Amino acid sequence: MLRHGLSCLFLLLILNTCAVSAAPVSSKQFMVVAEQRDAAQAGVDILNAGGNAIDAAVAIGYALAVTYPPAGNIGGGGFMLIHLANGKNTFINFREKAPSHASKDMYLDAGGKENSDASTNGYLAVAVPGTVLGFETALHEYGSMTRQRVMEPAIKLAENGYVISADAERVFKKFADSFQHQPNVATIFLHDGKPYSVGARLIQKDLARTLTLIANIGPDVFYRGQITKEIVAASASHGGILTLEDFADYNVEELPPVECQYHEYSILSAPPPSSGGTALCEMLNILENFPLPTMGYRSFNTTRTIVEAMRYGFLDRNRYLGDPNFTKNPVNALLSKSYAKQISEEIKNNVHAPDSTRISIFKELHDTTHYSVVDSQGNAVAVTYTLNGPFGAGIMAGKTGFFLNDEMDDFSIKPGAANQFGLVSGEKNQIAPNKRPLSSMTPTIVLQNNRVYLVLGSPGGPRIISAVLLTLLNVLDFGMNIQQAVDAPRFHYQVLPDVISTEPLALPFATRYQLSFHGYHLMPQAYWAAVEAIMIDPKTGEMHGANDMRRPDGAAIGN
Ligand code: DON
Repeated sequence: MLRHGLSCLFLLLILNTCAVSAAPVSSKQFMVVAEQRDAAQAGVDILNAGGNAIDAAVAIGYALAVTYPPAGNIGGGGFMLIHLANGKNTFINFREKAPSHASKDMYLDAGGKENSDASTNGYLAVAVPGTVLGFETALHEYGSMTRQRVMEPAIKLAENGYVISADAERVFKKFADSFQHQPNVATIFLHDGKPYSVGARLIQKDLARTLTLIANIGPDVFYRGQITKEIVAASASHGGILTLEDFADYNVEELPPVECQYHEYSILSAPPPSSGGTALCEMLNILENFPLPTMGYRSFNTTRTIVEAMRYGFLDRNRYLGDPNFTKNPVNALLSKSYAKQISEEIKNNVHAPDSTRISIFKELHDTTHYSVVDSQGNAVAVTYTLNGPFGAGIMAGKTGFFLNDEMDDFSIKPGAANQFGLVSGEKNQIAPNKRPLSSMTPTIVLQNNRVYLVLGSPGGPRIISAVLLTLLNVLDFGMNIQQAVDAPRFHYQVLPDVISTEPLALPFATRYQLSFHGYHLMPQAYWAAVEAIMIDPKTGEMHGANDMRRPDGAAIGN
């Protein structure tokens, strides 16, 4: 308490962080946090009806597919991390897979130059979606309710509509031109040729029909039925390569989470094909060798040390990780404490000089989303899923009513070339038929004495990893409450481009000055990422939920 009070005072003095954060939402029974309120409420309704956290997570996922169409999805994929009350930890990998006709050079022209438009827009960008089978697997293995029951709120939201917020209006306006070019999209997302305005109700009849088919028939209708045929036909007539077999062969995997220890906390996170958990744990292992609380919140020393930990984490992510079904990932070596110790010695002894000045202006849109759930039995679920770019590849097959992803862009389309998030991955992440592209999504659960302490994750491409890292450090080392930890301004470093991105007010003047003096390039940018987090007070068992203030449409709802 004293430690928290002091850090709060310190933050108040330099950054105003404590002053601007509302108190987290508190509750005794359960907690849901998501980036869209109606979807969070869908989870609450399921929990109130006696469902467990897994039932609620599936309900929220389907609801977000309706009420948060740039990111929530059934046309994309993602990860679900689960801690069960009985102590079991597991991870459901429903990441999309490359079509069987995909090839290493599919986005290169005759001269070997990459065509990044083809990997981000249109049917060639689409990987086989995993969300429907992922949710089915979670529900079948760990849920307690029927598919029809958990999909009920989403179907109602599609049939009866949801109210457009100011933030949704802004996003829809931005994409109005792209909607205009596709009659099947325009009839849903435009009204008299114009995007919906704040306060309007968006009804999605096509999506309601698709969701009802999935609820009644099950994933077969998506992977071997009517919906499959509609997607494959649209793909074939628009230069895509998706086949019926690609859908029939799609599979979901259950994997052990990546685990590491940070001081007295056990961190559970996403294993490959995500780089998220491995990079997060590598950074935490490195940082464990430094007394961050005494080095000071956002001091030059602390900031530089965290930036250097990010350097090693991102370099190793880019170099060594890929789909484990196609390449051997040296996760154990990357996460050994001795490797981290060796790196921390290098960090103590050197100030790295920047080696490149490539700068890309990062503008984040809504395209991935994270939500967290804890139920009254002690089950905890962290889900991050995505269409990759906002509205994915920007296309919808026929009257299916949902957008398809552009996840192919997460592959290394040419070694050394940056993807839409500036990530430069290597050979291990090259395209191959049926392979999953490397992800940065980092759904994470922290245990203390085998009990759930934190549940969190975020959108943000590579910035997911740094946003989760900083939020963890804000709580575990700097004693913030969960809302302050989530809201605190962030910085990010991913080696290429060789700049430290900073949100407004992220770093005090003295820290910025010293970083610049030591040769680091700083680049102020607009706010990014959206951490949706829950903390359970170890003493009282009270749950505290924090919706990131960067997502005004989101909500933490407890009971
Ligand atoms: O899996 C990944 O790492 C990316 N497809 C996530 C994209 C993302 O978070 C974009 N959000 N701003």
